[in-house]
Amino acid sequence: MYQIAVIPGDGTGPEVVREGLKVLQALSQKFKFRYEVTTFDWGGERYLKTGEVIPDGGIEELKRYNAIYLGAIGHPDVKPGILEKGILLRTRFDLEQYINLRPVKLYPGVLTPIKDKGPEEIDFVVVRENNEGLYKGMGEFQNKGTKDEVAIQISYNTRKGVERCIRYAFDYCRKRDKKKTLTLVGKTNVLTYAWDLWERTFHEVAKEYTDIKTDYAHVDATCMWMIKNPEWFDVLVTDNMFGDIITDLGAMIQGGMGIAAGGNINPEGVSMFEPIGGSAPKYTNMNVINPLAAIAAMQMLLSNIGEAEAAAALEKSIMHVTANDIKSLSAGKMGCSTSQAGNLVVRNL
Ligand code: IPM
Ligand code: MN
Repeated sequence: MYQIAVIPGDGTGPEVVREGLKVLQALSQKFKFRYEVTTFDWGGERYLKTGEVIPDGGIEELKRYNAIYLGAIGHPDVKPGILEKGILLRTRFDLEQYINLRPVKLYPGVLTPIKDKGPEEIDFVVVRENNEGLYKGMGEFQNKGTKDEVAIQISYNTRKGVERCIRYAFDYCRKRDKKKTLTLVGKTNVLTYAWDLWERTFHEVAKEYTDIKTDYAHVDATCMWMIKNPEWFDVLVTDNMFGDIITDLGAMIQGGMGIAAGGNINPEGVSMFEPIGGSAPKYTNMNVINPLAAIAAMQMLLSNIGEAEAAAALEKSIMHVTANDIKSLSAGKMGCSTSQAGNLVVRNL
């Protein structure tokens, strides 16, 4: 029996999570597995009421689950940063979810803003380091508030942290078994400490994966190639900050935040799956938000806990829905409501 922790969160989070759980319920009957859901009320509302972001022992509690399913974090009445750092980043760090896995895949019927590119050309995966780099929160102010103020933000990269991320990327590339090409995305020409370590580690680890072709691209050039020749990419590995930025670009070329999902993965522990868009407060409770990103996150969750067949069936159904049933991936323009979109996925399983 799988134990699933669910954090619906803020804004439209609860609505899209409801659809993901609807799909999980249907799949559990079809593929004969059992699960139990425990809901956590972490998010903006709880914080405004209690002043608490995560209750004492909350993270410890999460360790008892097989996986975590997250809706969205971010509330218009809470100062930016408090919930993001207090819930999302805290969970990623404290549960050592050191990989942020973000597939960029254009499904049939989905419009990409890139002219002349289709599902054949847009299908790659970004492996983003998820515990270190600029996100570590290291740095300081000097002479704060004066004309001579200096703000220092440190990119913190450990050999251990970089190596485990790169190894995961090589393994993932091998398992994916497509172009068998891993591209390191960095900035070796300017950030000569961090990317020296990344590059050295990449080449050392590559020696153990002679079946995988390796490549390197600067992060700025990567943004260019992602638009110009996305078909060149198979698996990309990069640090936390660059990964954050290029995966928003990736989400756009695969049709938008309505479809983009990601996993925060601890290969040896508990992982968390989420739609990568925000809480979209202006659409809250309107039943117009697209739940496909959350449903795609459920697909990643299922594949992570070992329900490969259910995950494969779910992806097929999502592809059927994008190809045949949904007019657009944008909120309010789908041609159906949030709950109807969830029903369509269930019907096509
Ligand atoms: C993401 C988000 C987060 C990040 C924010 C909300 C802290 O943008 O998951 O990509 O920067 O990692
Ligand atoms: Mn982001």
